[in-house]
Amino acid sequence: MPQPLTDVLAEVRTLLLDPGLTRAVAAGRRRGHTPTVTRAELRPVALKSGPHLQIVTDDGARPFTRNVAPGAEAEAAVDALLAEPFGNWHVETSATTVQVRITKKGDAQVHRGAAPDAAPVAGHDRAKQWLLDPGDPLFTVVGGTAAKRRQVDAFLRALAATLPDTLPSPLRVVDLGCGNAYLTFAAYRYLAARGVQVQVVGVDVREDQRVRNTAVASELGCSADVTFVAGTISSADLPFTPDLVLALHACDTATDEALARAVQWSARWVLAAPCCHHDIAAQLKGGAAPAPFGELTRHAIMRERFADVLTDTLRASLLRLNGYRVDVVEFIDSAHTPRNLLLRARRTDAPATPSQRAEYESLTAQWSVTPALEKLL
Ligand SMILES: C[S@@+](CC[C@H](N)C(=O)[O-])C[C@H]1O[C@@H](n2cnc3c(N)ncnc32)[C@H](O)[C@@H]1O
Repeated sequence: MPQPLTDVLAEVRTLLLDPGLTRAVAAGRRRGHTPTVTRAELRPVALKSGPHLQIVTDDGARPFTRNVAPGAEAEAAVDALLAEPFGNWHVETSATTVQVRITKKGDAQVHRGAAPDAAPVAGHDRAKQWLLDPGDPLFTVVGGTAAKRRQVDAFLRALAATLPDTLPSPLRVVDLGCGNAYLTFAAYRYLAARGVQVQVVGVDVREDQRVRNTAVASELGCSADVTFVAGTISSADLPFTPDLVLALHACDTATDEALARAVQWSARWVLAAPCCHHDIAAQLKGGAAPAPFGELTRHAIMRERFADVLTDTLRASLLRLNGYRVDVVEFIDSAHTPRNLLLRARRTDAPATPSQRAEYESLTAQWSVTPALEKLL
């Protein structure tokens, strides 16, 4: 039953400032309102100077992280976030999980549940909730460094945020440029643990990876569901048409090949973490920047960074023009890798509007670039 919003936000405030807070996320927007940030995530962090509350906000372009001291500073920061017209709050503490959705009428629908199971992490003094148990046999087989577990966890969180609760059965997944496939197996094991019937195929140009990954599938006892093909992203034959396309750190235009195939397959969901970007950078180097943006591309390092942003902007835009709703989010904390963007796309089949088309055309014309993805599509 809906409850008065003020009372519920007071409860959320108490939980956010509780020393037992594990994690909280605010996102979405209330009817007729737009928060100044698209998302906010709060979690406790242990700094040299003592425990702090870490707040990561995202303005839609990039994340911004700050650590606030407990007491007045944390209270002011929490109050500012609670004053934002977010549509949802999700709060986990060591004792409870509270989910709040603000209704169209401005009341709060509240779901209160148990605390998520906490899996303690060696060497850390606080419990972290892993989406794939750190004791999962996958980590025994592919190696279980802390960095790898964190990357798997970040990837699975992005996957969980992309997929709806009800999935097709079987869910057909392709991982393009799967490499040594630990993320492929992680996706399989996570989805299988959710009770989803999954068929996964990993594609990599390297035959040695196919042989190795097939052996790992056998070791993990999932050879019937997880198979591997040696071939290129653009031409590999798959045993099925995938619902979900993964392309994680596929080099340069291999990401474009993966996105093009996803569109051609009409895949329902796409998760792509681009790797190095050379295509647009090379085109920018050869061409003149439109006035007054010459400074953006004058210095090589600036040009490369700008090219990264322009490349992924145009990829997101092309996906949108092809009937996908796209979010660009941070994949994993930039402390772990500078290649930390993730394009998350969901097919809606919404036709592109004339203004979206015009915007894309104007952007590419002004910068005199033709993205690889446009050529492939
Ligand atoms: C940087 S690794 C990433 C592996 C894995 N996806 C991950 O994130 O851990 C990129 C992989 O893509 C493969 N690859 C690159 N271009 C490819 C293409 N055009 N077709 C198939 N595989 C490709 C490489 O062989 C390599 O194994």
